Amino acid sequence: MYSRCSRRRALTLGAGVLAGLGTAIAAKAGVKAAYRHYQAQVLDDPDRTFDLVDLTPLKQRAQAKGLIFGAAARHQDLVSDPALADCYRTECALLAPEWELKWSAGNARLRPDPAQFDFTMADWMVDFAQTRQMQVRGNALVWHLCLPDWFTERVNRQNAESLLVQHIQTVVGHYAGKVQSWDVVNEAIEPQDGQAQSLRRSPWWEFLGPDYIDLAFRVAAAADPTAILAYNDYGLEYDTPDNEAKRQAVLRLLERLKSQGTPIQAFGLQSHLVGNELRFNPEKLRRFLSDVASLGLKILISELDVIDRELPQPVETRDRIVAGLYEDFLSVVLDEPAVITLVTWGLSDRYTWLTEFHPRSDGAAVRPLPLDQALTRKSAWRAIARAIDAAPTR
Ligand code: G3I
Repeated sequence: MYSRCSRRRALTLGAGVLAGLGTAIAAKAGVKAAYRHYQAQVLDDPDRTFDLVDLTPLKQRAQAKGLIFGAAARHQDLVSDPALADCYRTECALLAPEWELKWSAGNARLRPDPAQFDFTMADWMVDFAQTRQMQVRGNALVWHLCLPDWFTERVNRQNAESLLVQHIQTVVGHYAGKVQSWDVVNEAIEPQDGQAQSLRRSPWWEFLGPDYIDLAFRVAAAADPTAILAYNDYGLEYDTPDNEAKRQAVLRLLERLKSQGTPIQAFGLQSHLVGNELRFNPEKLRRFLSDVASLGLKILISELDVIDRELPQPVETRDRIVAGLYEDFLSVVLDEPAVITLVTWGLSDRYTWLTEFHPRSDGAAVRPLPLDQALTRKSAWRAIARAIDAAPTR
């Protein structure tokens, strides 16, 4: 039991600790505010504008340059939101189902069990695209994520190859002649896994070894010789040690595949840009793209958006920074003639994976895409339009 004296000392001590804590919290908030102010100064150019002479839709601007512009979408959103669906018809010459061509993602279950395929949602997406003269690109046939719940307990070294071959044969065969390009293998490189050739320790690598990649491409090519077959990856866009390591590993992979005659025709640069990442080196990116192109590969900008979670909250400032990042990045990548397709990972801020995966700490809605939540064209839309207009014709 405390004496009165020690209790008073305890209270005084407690008050002191709380005051100190409060000061520390205030100091931290102050540092954060100062950083945000610095960041806004470095990232933002208040005088930058994104003027355009006309509002021709992105698909037509791209077509005039020999490019294809498209966006990812989810079945549930196109079905439930006719106004959104109409924006895809207006702006896009290509549709990339965000969930429906994966093994299992969101509410899409292409693979309900090892013996079944449910094409209902994917068929709806392909039909939506075709009836609007849009092409389709498929993401993704072989990935370490989005594997159905039954995968872990049902797949093993003995049956993994036959399961992989059957999946690719069935899915690619089902859409033969209807898909512009497939991400045959997605994100197979992860230097931090410490494996030979910087290959990711994916289940497919565990069960089948490095040759699962070549196998996947050969099966896909046999199932649909008309589709462009791509390797797709992320974390390659910046002048950082890990992005550089990954660029080198991806280049080595692409060189190996080409040298062994793997039927690969393209590389997908996902392009999930990081709004507050200052280490962007145009010359290094140009060189990487040129090295990929020198292998005889086309390049698809496959999942373009801007992660704005660390950007200043004010919408005008944030939109201007995001638009500037789009224009600066695209002015580099669209200079590479091998780049033939530009796909944003979503079209409107109303529906983006970033809401769940990269939410802002201040709770403000993310604003990564060309259209805002009201489906109105933002400065990001104008920035993309300007970059396409400035690009060399293919
Ligand atoms: O929105 C629902 C939410 O209501 C629900 O409470 C929650 C719990 O199930 O799920 C939420 O949906 C999730 C959705 O992301 C949110 O965007 C889905 O379960 C989840 O499967 C989905 O993940 C998708 C992810 O791939 C894995 O399939 C993302 O939508 C999709 O944008 C993302 O796309 C990948 C590319 O395929 C490959 N490159 C990276 C890219 C981003 O991760």
